[in-house]
Amino acid sequence: MTRPATPASMTMNKPTTGRTILLLTAVFAAACAPEPENVESAEEVPALREVFDHAFLIGGALNPSQFTGENVPEAELATKHFNTITPENVMKWEVIHPEPGVYDFAPADAFVAFGEERDMFIVGHTLVWHSQVPDWVFQDAAGQPVGRDTLLARMRDHIHTVAGRYEGRVDGWDVVNEALNDDGTLRESPWLRIIGEDYLAKAFEYAHEADPDAELYYNDYSLNNPAKRAGAVRLVRDLQARGLPVTGIGMQAHYTLSRPPLEEIAASIEAFAELGDVMITELDVAVLPRPQEHWGADISRRAELRDELNPFTEAFPDSMQQRLARRYADFFDLFLAHQEDISRVTFWGVTDAASWLNDWPIAGRTSYPLLFDRQNRPKPAFFSVVEAAREDRRQRAGGSQ
Ligand code: GLA
Repeated sequence: MTRPATPASMTMNKPTTGRTILLLTAVFAAACAPEPENVESAEEVPALREVFDHAFLIGGALNPSQFTGENVPEAELATKHFNTITPENVMKWEVIHPEPGVYDFAPADAFVAFGEERDMFIVGHTLVWHSQVPDWVFQDAAGQPVGRDTLLARMRDHIHTVAGRYEGRVDGWDVVNEALNDDGTLRESPWLRIIGEDYLAKAFEYAHEADPDAELYYNDYSLNNPAKRAGAVRLVRDLQARGLPVTGIGMQAHYTLSRPPLEEIAASIEAFAELGDVMITELDVAVLPRPQEHWGADISRRAELRDELNPFTEAFPDSMQQRLARRYADFFDLFLAHQEDISRVTFWGVTDAASWLNDWPIAGRTSYPLLFDRQNRPKPAFFSVVEAAREDRRQRAGGSQ
C-alpha cells in the first residue's frame, strides 16, 4: 500500500492524442506483422507479467488443451504472459465430482502442476455455485430434495476433499460464486433454499478448515451495479463480522464495448477495497451485438437478424480493433489507478479462438473479446494495454523514465 495512487478521475480524463497515435502504430504493426512464430520474439512482444509486475498479477483462465500442453502455442502464450491462472472448468463440481463419491482429479491435477512448474499464483474455481453442479447434489435417491443437514454434509465433504487435496498448492479459492441477484438480494439457489442464508458462512468455514492458509474469495458478475455492489458489501462484511476469513472480492468483469460505465467499476473497486483485496477475475470485452437489442417479436426476421448478430465471421475490421483497444486501455488505466487495491487481473481465456463468447449468448458466432487473435498474435488491444502499463510506470517514476 505504499505506491502513490493516480486518481481515477484524472486517469479517465487523460487526453487521448498519444494513445490514438499508439493505436494507429499498433494497427499498422499488426498489419505488417510477420507470421505468428516470428512475432512472438521477446523483443517485439513484451510479456504481460513483466509489463505489469509493478502493479498486480496478470493471468488467464485455462482449458485442458492449454495446461496439458496439447495446444503448444497457447500453452506457450500462457507461460510467457501470465503469472496467475484459473481453471476455466475442471474444478467445477460437475467435472471434479460428477457422481456421489466419485471424484475425477486428473484434469485439475494437470492444471495445478502446470501452475506449479511455472511458479504461478494458482486460483481454484469454484467450490459452491448454483451452475455446473449436478442435480444429485440436491436430491435423495428418490429424486426428492434433501434436507439441510444432508446438503451441508455434502458441501463439507466436497470442499474438504477438493480444497484439502490441493492444500498449500492452490493459493486462493473462489469459495462462493454468484450468490447475489442484480438487486443485491440473495439468489434463490438450491443452496439458499435448502440450507438457508448461512450456506455462505458454512462454505467459507469449510474452506478455511480444508486449507487454513489459502486466500478465500467471493466472486460475482455485474458487481459494478450499485445495488449489487451494496449487496456484496453487506454479504462480505457480515461474513467477516462472524470471523470468517474472506480475503477479498472477485469482480468477474465480463464487459462490453459500451458497458458498464468506468465510474461504476471504480466505485465498486473502492467500496470492496474497504473489505480486503479486489480482483478482476474474468475479464473479457464482448464485441458482438447482443440479441435482446435486435430480436423483435417477428420470428420471420430471425434468419436475417442472425447474420447481423454475427457480423465479423471473416475478419475483425481495423475500426473495431481500435474500439476494442481503446476500451481495454480505459479499463487498464482504471485498474492501474487502483493498483494498491487490486491484487490480480485475470482474462477469461487466452485467445479469441476458445473464448466462451463465441457461444454465448448465441452459439456458433465469431467473437474477438481478448488480447490475442485466433493465430495467437497480439491484437492492437494488447499493445494498448502494454502502453497503459508503461505510461503508468512513467508517471509513478515522476516522468523520469
Ligand atoms: C461465470 C463463471 C465462469 C464461467 C463464465 C462464463 O462467469 O464464473 O466459471 O463459466 O461464467 O464462461
